[in-house]
Amino acid sequence: MAGRYSEEIIEEVRNAVDLVEIASRYVRLKKSGNSYMGCCPFHKEKTPSFHIDADKQLYHCFGCGAGGSVFQFVMNAEGMDFIDAVKSLADSAGIRLPELGPDGGEERYRRKQDMYAMNKDAARFFRDCLFSEEGAGAREYFRRRALTSKTVASFGLGYSPTGWDGLLKHLEAMGYPRDMMVEAGLCIRNDRGRVYDRFRGRVMFPIFDARSNLIGFAGRIMEGEGAKYVNSPESIIYDKGKNLFALNLARKSRRGYYILVEGYMDVISLHQAGIDCAVAGCGTALTEAQAKLIARGNTVYLCYDMDEAGKKARDRAFSIFKGLDAKLRVITIPDGKDADEFIKKYGGEQFEKLLGNASTVTGNRVDALLSKYDLTDVSQKVELINEAADIFAGIPNMVEREAYIRDMAVKTGISFESISAEVRKAGGRRQRNEVLNDVRRSVSSSRTVQEGRREGRREASERRLLGLICGDGRLYKKLKDNLTEDLFSTEIHRDIFRTIKESCDSGIDAQQQLMKSYRGREEELSSVLIVSDDPQNALAAAEDYIRIIKEEAMREMIAEAEKSGDVALLAELLKNNRKAGM
Ligand code: UTP
Ligand code: MN
Repeated sequence: MAGRYSEEIIEEVRNAVDLVEIASRYVRLKKSGNSYMGCCPFHKEKTPSFHIDADKQLYHCFGCGAGGSVFQFVMNAEGMDFIDAVKSLADSAGIRLPELGPDGGEERYRRKQDMYAMNKDAARFFRDCLFSEEGAGAREYFRRRALTSKTVASFGLGYSPTGWDGLLKHLEAMGYPRDMMVEAGLCIRNDRGRVYDRFRGRVMFPIFDARSNLIGFAGRIMEGEGAKYVNSPESIIYDKGKNLFALNLARKSRRGYYILVEGYMDVISLHQAGIDCAVAGCGTALTEAQAKLIARGNTVYLCYDMDEAGKKARDRAFSIFKGLDAKLRVITIPDGKDADEFIKKYGGEQFEKLLGNASTVTGNRVDALLSKYDLTDVSQKVELINEAADIFAGIPNMVEREAYIRDMAVKTGISFESISAEVRKAGGRRQRNEVLNDVRRSVSSSRTVQEGRREGRREASERRLLGLICGDGRLYKKLKDNLTEDLFSTEIHRDIFRTIKESCDSGIDAQQQLMKSYRGREEELSSVLIVSDDPQNALAAAEDYIRIIKEEAMREMIAEAEKSGDVALLAELLKNNRKAGM
C-alpha cells in the first residue's frame, strides 16, 4: 500500500500536517488533555466516540472501529486511495512531491493517470466537434439554454458526433488502446467484439472529481427519441457514489456553503449566475459518501425540483444528512420546476433571495403537513397536530421548539397549551424508542467498551491493557510476571504484546517501536494506542483488566467444555474457578 513514494517523503508529509487540524474540517472537536473528542465523521452518532491522540497523531472511533493515521483519515473521509491522500496532504502542506516514475508496483495508479489523460483528450475532441460544422446544432442548443461561451468553455462542454467511431478513431490515432477506451466507458464493446462510441449526437458534460481529474462524461440528447442522458459507467476512476458534479469548482467558492441541486444544467446555470457553490449528484440517488463531502460543519442548501421525484429525493437527503454535521436549509422554487428554469426566467439576484428565504428542515416539513391536511376537518386537524408534535418533539432547542408550536397554534387555531401537551407526549414516546434503540445497538455491537457481550468485554480489556503497558515501561515491569502472550485472544493483540515485551525487555520505548512497525497500517493499532484511562490509576486499572481477561477466558473455557460435554474438564475448570474465587 505504501505506493511508490519513498518512506522519507511520506514521513515528511506526515510530519508537516496535523491530524487534529485536518480532522476538524470534518468534525467539531473538543479538547481534553492531549486528546480530542467528537462525533465520528464515518458513522452516525449522537454521543462522541471519535478520539484523536494529538501526540501520536492517531484517531480511533470506538463506535464504528475506524482508526489510523492522518493518511487513513483522508482516505476514509474523501474516498481516496493512498497515493491521492498523500498528494492532497502534501498539497495542503505545500510540499512538492517528486514525479512518480513509470515503473514500480503502482500499476493501478499509472492506469488511472492514463485514463484521466485519455478523458482529457476525449473532452478536447468533443469541444472541437462542438465548434466544427457538425456542432452547429449543439451550439444552437446551448444558446437556446442561455449558456454563454464563457460558461461553455469553463465547464468544458462539447458535442459528440453522430458517427459510430469518431472518438474511437481519434483516440486510436493518439495511441490509446481500445481496451482502455472500453474500460473508461468512452466506447462500448458488443457481444461480437465490435467496439464503437458510447456517446453519439449528444451535448457533452465532462465530470471531474474533487481534485479536478476528468473521471467521466454525461451526454444529453438534444431532441428526438432516446434516453435523456447517457452517462459514463463506473470504472476504476469513476465511483458515482463518491463524486459530485462541480465539486472541484464549488470547493473554491468564497461563499462558505454549498447548494445541492438535482441536475447538471441546474449547476451550470447557477455557476453562470455567479452562484459558484452549487453541486449535483451524477445521475444516481444521493449517497452518504457524497453528503459527507459537503457536510463538514457547513450549511447545505437543498434545492430539489418541485415535482414528486424531487420531493422524494429531498426526503432522502434529509435522512442522509441527519447524522452528519451540516446545517440544512431547504430552498423552495416558487415558479418553475428547477433552479435552471428559475434563473433563466428571473436571474441570479432573485435566486439569492430564495437562499435568504430558505426554510429549515422542520419548517419545510411543517409546510408539507399544512398542505397535506384539510384544516376544516376536525379529524384531519388531529392527525396534523399528531404528526407535527412528533416533529417538534425532536427539536432539541427549546426556544426553537416553542417558536414552531406558536406558529402552528396561529395557523391551526388550536391553543399553544394543547399543542405543547401533545409535544410532551410525543417526546415521551421518542425517548422510549431511543432507549430501546440504544439497547438494541449495544447488544448488536461488539466494539463498544462497556457493553455486556463477553467477547467484547474481553477484547476491550485486552486493548486497554495493551494501551496502558505500551505507554509505561515501569508499569510493564511491575506486571511482567502476570503477562503472557496467551492472555490475548486475537492475533493482532498478541503481535502488539510481543512488540511491547521485546521493546521493554531491551529498554526501547515500546510506543515508538509500535508506531514504527505499524507504519502504513496504523488502523490496526489506533484502538490500542488511544486510551482514555487515567494514568494515575494505571496499575489498578491494568490489574483490573488482567482479572477481567482471565475471568472471561475461564468463562469461555467452561462454556466450551459444557458444549462439548467434556465432564472431566468441566469439573476441573469449575474447581479451579472456585479456587480463584470467581
Ligand atoms: P433532469 O431530468 O432534471 O435533467 O435530471 P437536467 O440535468 O436538469 O436537464 P434539463 O434541465 O432537463 O436539460 C436530473 C439529473 O438526473 C440524472 C442527471 O444527473 C440529471 O442531471 N439523469 C436524468 C440521468 O442520469 N439520466 C437521465 O436519463 C435523466
Ligand atoms: Mn432538471
